Amino acid sequence: MATRVAARASSAVRGPPSLLSLARRPRWRSPSPVQSCYSSSGPTSSIAIEGADGKTYKTDEWMNTPPSILSAVSKRLHLQPDHPLAITRQLIESRFPGYAYHNALFPIVTTHQNFDSLGFPPDHPGRSRTDTYYINSKTVLRTHTSAHQADTFRANETPGYLISADVYRRDAVDRSHYPVFHQMEGAMTWDRDSVPAGSTLAQQIWADVAKIPAHPGLAAQDPNPTMHPDRNPLQPEHAADEVEAVAAHLKRSLEDVVVAIFTAARAATTTPSGDAPPDEPLQIRWVEAYFPFTSPSWELEVFWQGEWLEVLGSGVVRHSILAAAGVPTRIGWAFGLGLERIAMLLFSIPDIRLFWSEDQRFLSQFSASKPIARFAPFSKYPACFKDVSFWLPVGAGGNSAGGLVAGFHENDVMELVRDVAGDLAEDVRLVDEFTHPKTGRRSCCYRINYRSLERTLTNEETNELHERLRRTLVGRLGVELR
Ligand code: DAH
Repeated sequence: MATRVAARASSAVRGPPSLLSLARRPRWRSPSPVQSCYSSSGPTSSIAIEGADGKTYKTDEWMNTPPSILSAVSKRLHLQPDHPLAITRQLIESRFPGYAYHNALFPIVTTHQNFDSLGFPPDHPGRSRTDTYYINSKTVLRTHTSAHQADTFRANETPGYLISADVYRRDAVDRSHYPVFHQMEGAMTWDRDSVPAGSTLAQQIWADVAKIPAHPGLAAQDPNPTMHPDRNPLQPEHAADEVEAVAAHLKRSLEDVVVAIFTAARAATTTPSGDAPPDEPLQIRWVEAYFPFTSPSWELEVFWQGEWLEVLGSGVVRHSILAAAGVPTRIGWAFGLGLERIAMLLFSIPDIRLFWSEDQRFLSQFSASKPIARFAPFSKYPACFKDVSFWLPVGAGGNSAGGLVAGFHENDVMELVRDVAGDLAEDVRLVDEFTHPKTGRRSCCYRINYRSLERTLTNEETNELHERLRRTLVGRLGVELR
């Protein structure tokens, strides 16, 4: 499988977060740099989860989901009236008239739904316990809304649909990464068997393309051919003229979304001098991509505040997915995007933790009935940086993708910090790392930035948090403090 190399460096070594770094490391791209020693929660038992309608789930040695993550399941921020994520969802939905909107799909899914149904190979690193929250060996918290693609195609209720939902990933701690976030998935398909006599499928699709608003003022770069035999192949079940039409429909639909988002974001953004931003054409570009569930595939990037920002992934749905879903005569496209990332730039929200705030100083600033406006930070409370250095356990390493628990993965440090400090941890980064030349042991130094979004932390409080973190690192990961 032609998996691309990670576009983003290890979270530990990248610079300060910016909107650009909002990109998550997609599951299909690269194995994690170091492997896990997350130990399981103990013997087999079962758990009840709030919001699961009384259903209980059996846990086993794969269980790695802490209570703090399970408690997010019932929050459904994308459905809270006047929440910035709900406003962002509605703005995008408004660009897809006639599509069905599925907004309440439950986040606990099977590994079949999350991975197998989408063509992820059995040894794909995205399945690793270091990256994904498991309940048991066959049950996970969905890592993406694509987990519902096959079922939605199988139900075959409408040709077009959107799915908005909370998704869960073990990941870095910083201002643009949170282990729970929200995605929107969309798809549109056409049925070969419903083409009227005298017309072709491609003609039908082109007729639909003509119905989507075009934006001639958009500066769109799309330098590559729709299909390329090596880099972005046509699927053997598809005809090239059909895929040209599907791609045109996909691109015009998503360009329309991007114009809506960035026009609103520009209107809300003012330059430091208070002037409106220059009235330049919005620049976007289509970039060839790879996903296990589409071919050909593209990412859409937008030039925003001086940087190319990856906004979404998309492509022509794999025929095998539609065939397995009982709709082998359909062909179409799908996309997926992160709602936090878009809401952060729409409203100029500087820290992803804010979405979880119940502080009225945050929530009262957003209203679905008012134009999108910049968020006014209520205050920037002081940061407190503290370092922790430790030796990794001897022999740390090994591959956890098969569920092995020997090894060390940076995401374990990240999650441990979240367990101990919750949302008081703003950022965690690796600031130093070396291997002892004689013993071969590895040492790491992580810098934790403690800061509350709502108040000033006392020295005693941060000292105590940090002390607890040090003890927990030793207790849970078996490291030796330096
Ligand atoms: N599921 C992908 C992710 O989590 C996003 C995505 C890419 C969804 C391409 C799609 C698609 O439907 O066609 O980042």
